[in-house]
Amino acid sequence: MEICLQKYTSDKSVILLNSQTERWIKVNREKYEKLDEASIKKLVETYGLTRKTEKKREINSVYLFLTHHCNMACDFCFLQCSPNIEIEKDFDTEKIMKYYNLLCSSPETKLVVTGGEPLSRPDIKDILRSLSEKVGKERIILQTNGLLLNEEKLSQIKDYIGCIEMSIENVVRDEKLRNTMEKRYAAINAMGCVLSFSYVIDSDSEEYLKAALELADKYDAYFQMRFVEPLGNGAGYSLDMWENLDVLMKKSYLTFLDYVIDNKGFERRYSTVIDNALIPREKCGGYGEVAALHPNGDLFPCGNIVDEKMRLANLEEEENIDTSYYDRSDVKSRFVTGEKKECSNCDYLFFCNGICGAIDRKYEHFSAYKKSTCRMKKDLLYFGMFVKKDSWNREEYFRNYREFLKNDDMKKMVKRDVEKICI
Ligand SMILES: C[S@@+](CC[C@H](N)C(=O)[O-])C[C@H]1O[C@@H](n2cnc3c(N)ncnc32)[C@H](O)[C@@H]1O
Ligand code: SF4
Ligand code: SF4
Repeated sequence: MEICLQKYTSDKSVILLNSQTERWIKVNREKYEKLDEASIKKLVETYGLTRKTEKKREINSVYLFLTHHCNMACDFCFLQCSPNIEIEKDFDTEKIMKYYNLLCSSPETKLVVTGGEPLSRPDIKDILRSLSEKVGKERIILQTNGLLLNEEKLSQIKDYIGCIEMSIENVVRDEKLRNTMEKRYAAINAMGCVLSFSYVIDSDSEEYLKAALELADKYDAYFQMRFVEPLGNGAGYSLDMWENLDVLMKKSYLTFLDYVIDNKGFERRYSTVIDNALIPREKCGGYGEVAALHPNGDLFPCGNIVDEKMRLANLEEEENIDTSYYDRSDVKSRFVTGEKKECSNCDYLFFCNGICGAIDRKYEHFSAYKKSTCRMKKDLLYFGMFVKKDSWNREEYFRNYREFLKNDDMKKMVKRDVEKICI
């Protein structure tokens, strides 16, 4: 049987990928060039590139938006939440559990409880208790800005969550707030709950990134370094910012690498932020693995999408998801890597999953956003695919990563080529 593969070649290595099975191998280029077709086929079979693990399409992550109300109104918020939005009254614990049961039967589901600000719901304790009885508290991540997380609230919810993920953009620029919040982080540490910080980087917040890393270091938190996405309020940023997003990204990566190296934080939780496992994907989670439920019963295929046109169902009106949704060409062109028109000629396709399916392709600054993020993604992928060595220890990995990002000539020295081969 003929097998078609993507072949990525650099001066020293050849990577062969079967995009359908999402399996790949890297071989020495000199050795590869001496192989005949039969030997290549044998190699590909031996390393399991043709072995397809049949996976049923099944929802394994649920984003539960408890409300769109928020006690903040962030400049970048993709949901455009604010104190002006009323807390929905029609989405009580009973309804949440009913919807949840319609969506998932698997106890393995990862559940992200979010909003708006979920802690602004007066019944948050009951909701979390019911959910934790269903999936187990270790699987529940609570996303919050933490402003309402006083001692009383914390003691009410602590037994029903596995991880608290807190946004800290405001905390690092306000000393008074920081002092208050640090007491809360210490309390979370003391009760043994996993702490994770989320930090959205835009042209204003980049300068506080180091302070954010210091906090993560101090409270042994995981760290999500998020670059602002052009969604909701985030779409309001200037063209200039999108055109130069790669510069901002590179600067942030270097700040991060400097921090880890200077503080010898190679094994700390926050240092895992750039561990890119290089997993080529034929499709993203939005293509059947993720469901995002909103207070009015609307269901979307991804936590970042609230575009009516992309709605999967409304669970208030219908109890089943019509799976023909995933056959729609507009849906595939957002979530299936090989169907993303804007990526069709890219050398990094599959190792890069393409532009996030949540982003409207008709967005006025889409092309500027795409150009700059692609420049950065390609650099990062190039490092992972062709520079990174399995033999490096963690410190070597960080030092080489930094050297690579600082050295603009390094990539130009290396020849690279991509083609499709069928054997
Ligand atoms: C919408 S918030 C809801 C939970 C909570 N209020 C909070 O701020 O953490 C969920 C996460 O989305 C992130 N976020 C919001 N808008 C974003 C955007 N345009 N780009 C990237 N991340 C964004 C927030 O920083 C937060 O980590
Ligand atoms: S990002 Fe979070 S804290 Fe900020 S407005 Fe949105 S929901 Fe509220
Ligand atoms: S690098 Fe850019 S063009 Fe290439 S696959 Fe990724 S998102 Fe698409």
